[in-house]
Amino acid sequence: MKKFPSEPIESASRRKLGTLQLARLKRALARVYARVPHYRRKFDAAGVKPKDLRTLADLARFPFTAKADLRETYPFGMFAVPMGEVVRVHASSGTTGKPTVVGYTRKDIGTWSHLMARSLRAAGARPGDKMHNAYGYGLFTGGLGYHYGGERLGLVTIPVSGGMTERQVQLIRDFKPEIIAVTPSYMLAIIDEMERQGFDPKKSSLRVGVFGAEPWTEEMRRAIEARTSLQALDTYGLSEVLGPGVACEYLETKGGSTIWEDHFYPEVVDPVSGEPLPDGEQGELVLTSLTKEALPVIRYRTRDLTRLLPGGVGAMRRMARITGRSDDMMIIRGVNVFPSQIEELILKQGLSPHYVLELSKQGPLDHLAVVVETKDAEAAGRLAHDIKSYIGVSAEVKPVATGTVERSIGKAKRIIDLRPK
Ligand code: DLL
Repeated sequence: MKKFPSEPIESASRRKLGTLQLARLKRALARVYARVPHYRRKFDAAGVKPKDLRTLADLARFPFTAKADLRETYPFGMFAVPMGEVVRVHASSGTTGKPTVVGYTRKDIGTWSHLMARSLRAAGARPGDKMHNAYGYGLFTGGLGYHYGGERLGLVTIPVSGGMTERQVQLIRDFKPEIIAVTPSYMLAIIDEMERQGFDPKKSSLRVGVFGAEPWTEEMRRAIEARTSLQALDTYGLSEVLGPGVACEYLETKGGSTIWEDHFYPEVVDPVSGEPLPDGEQGELVLTSLTKEALPVIRYRTRDLTRLLPGGVGAMRRMARITGRSDDMMIIRGVNVFPSQIEELILKQGLSPHYVLELSKQGPLDHLAVVVETKDAEAAGRLAHDIKSYIGVSAEVKPVATGTVERSIGKAKRIIDLRPK
């Protein structure tokens, strides 16, 4: 890999980083209190003022922000700048109700591009490399987030967006990109299509994949790397906090995405009590933006479950791979189950990674069916056995023909809930 300078802050000491975070956090709290009535009301109700923050630990005294706050103030009520300073909005559809709308000033777009360029550089991309960008363009932040970051780093940015899988493969064969940015589930569809065309995925030009926007497992990483010649890296973000570019794995260390802590202050809290947990303990990730102008968020509840890990390359901490969203947790006859646990077992059996989980009712009880593409009844039986012994729930494994499970062109939908509402 060609040498390319990282930024000084990436190798700064914890102390120096902490000083920067504290200064930025004080400014962020003062700013939202002065400019966003919704925050002012919430801080007042909790009996806290921005000046009560003297150390980073004091942040725990401030109220959380959740998707509900954004919905309540839909569409622009949480913006901290006049509309004349907003140059872009994105929105996330969400599964229920109104979308959440997020806004960016010109400076925010600059910060975002910068952090995306940093992420891509950490992932091993270098100016002159070509990046095939198959994240969706539009209100979703994936496409444009990668696009601006790619251009900022000096990559030849190829704005393909999602869909038309045959053409995706044609473009990869013809343009020979080194980098691909795409959801892991859509990468699988692209690999299948390469094989269908008789093109060996191992012989493609792709060297690095920056995969995110949906939960995926270590087993999935191994499965993708085994079928291709690329390094599969995890990259994390969410619209409410920025879009992609909140955290990314370094190519040289992997082992969890480094959170760009100079711009986002992370906490992990107990999802039920909201109490902050020490680093290393599993809980819900909570993020505070330190530099956002148009839509700063204070203690935003991501619903994503993870742990904070020590830094790999510098002092900025890493997050463990997300095991699931608290919203995606299924409760099957009293046992909490995440789709990622099932995915792990499917791939351990060497079964196809295209799967869906169907939830229905059998009488008063919840019933879980795991739909997998296989002709091998024995492997299906072994999977049912593994689910019972490792997770502790009985599941019906439904083998179906190859190509039956709907392919994602972006975020895969893993759970089909057929239970009456
Ligand atoms: O998915 C931003 C993004 C785009 C990230 C491209 C990475 C790459 P949203 O549509 O707002 O934004 O969805 C955010 O997706 O709260 C997680 O539940 C999930 N998610 C994102 N990245 C990961 C990841 C984009 N690496 C929601 N692993 C988040 C697991 C992820 N889940």
